[in-house]
Amino acid sequence: MYQTSPQLDKNNRLRHLLTIDGLTREHIVEILDKAEGFFIPKSGQIIQTDTLQGKTIANLFFEPSTRTRSTFQLAAQNLSASVLNLNISHSSTSKGESLRDTVLNLQAMQCQLFVIRHGSSGAAHFVAQQVNPFVAVINAGDGCHAHPTQALLDMFTIRKHRGDFQKLRVAIVGDILHSRVARSQIHALQLMRAGEIRAIGPKTLLPAHLEQLGVKVFHDLSQGLQGVDVIMMLRLQTERMQKGLLPKGNSYYRLYGLTSETLAMANPNALIIHPGPVNRGVEIQSDIADSPNAVILDQVTNGIAIRMAVMSLLMENRLS
Ligand code: CP
Repeated sequence: MYQTSPQLDKNNRLRHLLTIDGLTREHIVEILDKAEGFFIPKSGQIIQTDTLQGKTIANLFFEPSTRTRSTFQLAAQNLSASVLNLNISHSSTSKGESLRDTVLNLQAMQCQLFVIRHGSSGAAHFVAQQVNPFVAVINAGDGCHAHPTQALLDMFTIRKHRGDFQKLRVAIVGDILHSRVARSQIHALQLMRAGEIRAIGPKTLLPAHLEQLGVKVFHDLSQGLQGVDVIMMLRLQTERMQKGLLPKGNSYYRLYGLTSETLAMANPNALIIHPGPVNRGVEIQSDIADSPNAVILDQVTNGIAIRMAVMSLLMENRLS
């Protein structure tokens, strides 16, 4: 099990980014503002800088990824860093090399920043405890625990499209139990002082104690969506699910799918976000995923700037 977060230094600055839990609102706003500065106004293009020239970033993805891995790579390239994408299935992991030894060998190759995705909760914390003081670690998703850069890009996207969080009623819909994204989103929404946070899903897919985090729980999608301004959809994380947690057949879509009918319960123009990958016809009606209020692809673009912001901030903090 992971231990107390070592992600802040003695001056309360980010040393690593492992979880949203334990950060302050100021940490989040600093990252969002820094990310905003990477966009060229009006054109929406992301700038390229030489901020991380001479630095090497290692992408260690022990689980599949399209968005996170690619946008970390693009972000590192935009900052002029060298990127080492370790192909885990062709690495010495398959010969029994431990995670610790893999990381120490890459550190010996002078990698200064590790981006790690792993199926085990706490893997990024573990790596952060192994590296030397000049090396930083970013959690790109660990088990069911946390996916902090996803939550940050979600906050960036909501702030860009809807502004003041205090005025927003936000619903997170679906498989919250297995979702590292949802855990990070809840912490981030609380820090951004969202007006109301709702969790909607079947009893089998919602963790206990959500109410203790100040989250309103709904098991009926239409009721839960009434009057919401932002809908955060989640994928069913079947790869982490025990048997028997899902309703039979396609009744999950009938009960919890975002369809024209259920969307009509939310405020007009409710913003729809989804971390991806989207399973059309499973958690969301296909044409809703492509509708103007669904900003799913904008989230992906924003992910590049957020990851640039986190990587450059960690490297700045390391050097100062
Ligand atoms: N949102 C997300 O983590 O997507 P990937 O699994 O494709 O990285």
